[in-house]
Amino acid sequence: MDTHSNQTILVTGGAGFVGSALIRFLINDTSHTVINLDKLTYAGNLKSLTSIETNRRYNFIHGDICNSELIQRLLSQYTPDIVMHLAAESHVDRSIDGSAEFIQTNIVGTYCLLEACRNYFARLDTEKQTTFRFHHVSTDEVFGELGDTGLFTENSPYQPSSPYSASKAAADHLVRAWSRTYKLPVVLSNCSNNYGPYQYPEKLIPLVLHKALAGESLPIYGDGQQIRDWLHVEDHVRALYLVALRGKLGETYNIGGGNEKTNLEVVTEICELLNTRILDKPKGIDDFKQLITFVTDRPGHDQRYAIDASKIEQELGWQPVQSFESGLASTLNWYINNPEWYQEIINSDGQTR
Ligand SMILES: NC(=O)c1ccc[n+]([C@@H]2O[C@H](COP(=O)([O-])OP(=O)(O)OC[C@H]3O[C@@H](n4cnc5c(N)ncnc54)[C@H](O)[C@@H]3O)[C@@H](O)[C@H]2O)c1
Repeated sequence: MDTHSNQTILVTGGAGFVGSALIRFLINDTSHTVINLDKLTYAGNLKSLTSIETNRRYNFIHGDICNSELIQRLLSQYTPDIVMHLAAESHVDRSIDGSAEFIQTNIVGTYCLLEACRNYFARLDTEKQTTFRFHHVSTDEVFGELGDTGLFTENSPYQPSSPYSASKAAADHLVRAWSRTYKLPVVLSNCSNNYGPYQYPEKLIPLVLHKALAGESLPIYGDGQQIRDWLHVEDHVRALYLVALRGKLGETYNIGGGNEKTNLEVVTEICELLNTRILDKPKGIDDFKQLITFVTDRPGHDQRYAIDASKIEQELGWQPVQSFESGLASTLNWYINNPEWYQEIINSDGQTR
């Protein structure tokens, strides 16, 4: 991106689904240097980064965002121009089963990063201060649920429903407070549901895919009529890059694909694509839709999310490239062609449900 093409970007959570897509983009499509700080929790996977791991502009640090000393050391050593903060516990169901890690990483970890960045920023020379930015990557789930109509805008009130979304909301508030009170230069983004390659197979699309290929039942919460707005992860990553480099300081940008689908529609579309792609179906299966099974709804399940992305479109010139149909087809192809990536996870994690 023209004026600042050789910056150093500290990415937290870069071994996760969105973070690894961001780092592959930064290394392949820009000339920035990347420092990836990741704790490698169950969701972190360095195999998502093998295509760029030997690039000399890429550096991996195994560590926890709650470790203030480590963060301060990294900031002094690498003097990043931008911090893009993605590290989080990200799965709603896990947050319902046990919220402690969500409070620790998503809230305390964000606080530790903000404090370290505040100290770092205060020590920077004026020139570096003018370019430094802290970007908090957040979710549309902070806004709670919508009824049948309407869209989340950047001014929608915060009404999080799950421990996950409440912890992300708390982190958003901390980031804004550090901007208002300490003048830390921040930008925020709140994005809808992502899908694409390298997504941990506990999330809806890879979960349904791997279960279908194994001939297992495809669990759908409640009646499957909950609506989500789907965005391909590579479109999210391009939006993040624009927000981090060009977003107006102190501002928030909503990011979404304009692809509203019920969960049942998503699962049905996956089954129909698999019906044409997989000729050698699991035993007893003529149509993958036979595997759809409705299960007890998730407590506090939000009915509908939908994003008004006009601000980022108008101010930063962002548009999604992938339609849901093209993105879903290419995503399914990726999982079908890379079974070793998700099979290893499934073999070692009994919780992919
Ligand atoms: N996936 C989506 O649909 C989506 C949508 C909107 C926003 N987001 C946000 O994007 C970010 C990334 O989401 P994701 O889907 O890639 O999540 P993910 O669960 O796939 O990855 C999270 C990464 O953070 C790392 N991590 C967790 N705790 C850490 C800690 N204490 N210190 C350092 N690293 C730690 C994990 O090892 C993992 O690599 C999150 O902040 C999430 O809220 C995701």
